[in-house]
Amino acid sequence: MANVVIIGAQWGDEGKGKVVDIYTEHAQQVVRFQGGNNAGHTLVVGDETIVLHLIPSGILHPGKRCVIGNGVVLDPKIFLGEIEGLKKRGYLKDDRQLVLDGNLHIIMPWHKAVDLAREKDVSRKIGTTGRGIGPCYEDKIGRRGIRLSDLIKPQVFRRKVKEMLPEKNFLLEKFFGEPLLNEDQIVEEYSAYAMQIEKYLGCCSSSLNKAINAGENLLFEGAQGTLLDIDHGTYPYVTSSSTCSGGVCTGTGVAPKHINSVVGITKAYCTRVGEGPFPSELNDEMGERIRKAGNEFGSTTGRPRRCGWFDAVAIREAVRLNGLTGLAVTKLDVLNELDNIKICTAYSYQGQLLEEFPRDADILRECTPIYEEFDGWQSDICDARSMADLPDAAKAYLAKMEELAGCPAVLVSVGPRRDQTIQISNPFV
Ligand code: IMP
Repeated sequence: MANVVIIGAQWGDEGKGKVVDIYTEHAQQVVRFQGGNNAGHTLVVGDETIVLHLIPSGILHPGKRCVIGNGVVLDPKIFLGEIEGLKKRGYLKDDRQLVLDGNLHIIMPWHKAVDLAREKDVSRKIGTTGRGIGPCYEDKIGRRGIRLSDLIKPQVFRRKVKEMLPEKNFLLEKFFGEPLLNEDQIVEEYSAYAMQIEKYLGCCSSSLNKAINAGENLLFEGAQGTLLDIDHGTYPYVTSSSTCSGGVCTGTGVAPKHINSVVGITKAYCTRVGEGPFPSELNDEMGERIRKAGNEFGSTTGRPRRCGWFDAVAIREAVRLNGLTGLAVTKLDVLNELDNIKICTAYSYQGQLLEEFPRDADILRECTPIYEEFDGWQSDICDARSMADLPDAAKAYLAKMEELAGCPAVLVSVGPRRDQTIQISNPFV
């Protein structure tokens, strides 16, 4: 029996969806513990491409249970839209396949309105996804949020909306100059959602702990990435939740002693969306080439992703913060055609050598990368199914990534399809 956590080791979009999908085979339950529909997993199943923002990709495997933990923030409209899309394609035949914790917080219309209004101030822009994630977590921590357990109680829900709305409307109208929101409209819209969602309500902590006691394997699916963590990321250019492995325990009610391994997903290069420092960013033709080869456009917002070389300093930070026991390296094939590939091994900051990731975004912004250069393999590796199938230059590149990270690779992805994968070792055994 093993419980495995999957974490994005960079700034998100590392290709967690595919890895989670592969590992789901070994788990009985797949659990989300933080974030909301700011995430986006693109899955290629056969000839179909499926994008999920909220529901764990494990839902594509009949018989696996997917749990959305208390640490998640949920937009009911998006959630129900995903359910409809899945059912139309023949998935989620049994509603018991999906469980939502009653303590998770609901993203309300004012959260989205405030998120979008704040982002209009160019000088303080974070580059959020505009999904209301930050403002919803603000209300959660401010102890005035609306939880799923409130949403399904009509009187409690109306009272909470009545209490909240004057403050939100004041902010929207007087401070941001945005239109007012209407109480009746919100209550009517959200009450309809409540009726459809109620059947998924459950207790995440209790059901997961029962599953653990029964010897089931759990897979915890992180969203975003380590460097977007609210505490440990490149603050303030971060998301509003705990994206690191520690977030699993608070976001689900499963204790640390039950976590057996933590796999960090990293691209063979690096990307970031939104604002914030990114030392190994390539603002040149090479960056454009990687963006094109890797189709680096956000699955949630469609924004072009900023691209750069693999950053070993940042990965070492992820290894330490998450206690990574293995790396899953994705999109190695994107580098197929390059003659030379670089890895950032350290930073230079005001003439000093930095080997550790600075915890202050202002310092990080001034860091310049120190690179080591490698020969490319200039051949198609999409058909490799074992390490032995890879060209020597690709093997050498991976070995260097592992050495610099101080963490072994457990999986290498060489294409978007499920079968285009080299599984080196299985974190569940
Ligand atoms: P928010 O999560 O919408 O508040 O956005 C905060 C920051 O996190 C922005 O830079 C977003 O681009 C980034 N972000 C949020 N979700 C993701 C994701 O799933 N992948 C990559 N970046 C993300």
